[in-house]
Amino acid sequence: MLFLDSSDPAEIKEISSWGVLSGVTTNPLIISREAGDVDLEQRIHEVIKVSTGHVSVELTTETEKEMLDEALGYHEWNPKRVCVKIPFSETGLKVLHQLVQREVLTNVTCMMSFNQAYLAALAGATYVSLFSGRIRDMGYDVRPVIRETRAILDREELSSRIIVGSVRHMMDVNEALMDGAHIVTVPPPILRKMLWNPRTESTIREFNDAWNNRGKK
Ligand code: E4P
Repeated sequence: MLFLDSSDPAEIKEISSWGVLSGVTTNPLIISREAGDVDLEQRIHEVIKVSTGHVSVELTTETEKEMLDEALGYHEWNPKRVCVKIPFSETGLKVLHQLVQREVLTNVTCMMSFNQAYLAALAGATYVSLFSGRIRDMGYDVRPVIRETRAILDREELSSRIIVGSVRHMMDVNEALMDGAHIVTVPPPILRKMLWNPRTESTIREFNDAWNNRGKK
């Protein structure tokens, strides 16, 4: 499955019309780059209106109480659609545990290893997010991390779904899905690249030119 890694309502609406998206992920960096000092609640309501599935909204506070309050505030915006994105840490796990008990949708994020993803899955996260591009930036191979995470979820029948994010190239999408990601969250420019193949373009041109010139010498 594919999610869109964006907070831009116009872009989300346009790409949703292709019928390929199952959800949306945002983060503070994406929102500040795309919309600056926007009103977060209003932006998320706009995103919800033009999309389907879960919309991840990330916590920006860092103490347990602040994070829990922030999370419950986001959850209230739309309990069935808003998925609270919790940056992975010991405090993050404590907050996750309390949110799981309250049946809040959760996406544990910024994870770079099997170990982190396993802990988040054991604590009951709805989604566990592995950051492909950032793992590769550190010089590690992300593929075994995805494969091993999927294997343990399956073996222990843990309900968390793996999201692979931090996608930089089209091949990251193929590899993540083949290695066992349930979902890849893709930035709009990379999703648009997935449409394109030069041989498809030239074949369609050949067919349509033949049709338009039929009967002519
Ligand atoms: C995933 O949920 C994140 O929003 C995202 O993919 C982070 O990727 P980056 O490395 O491009 O910041």
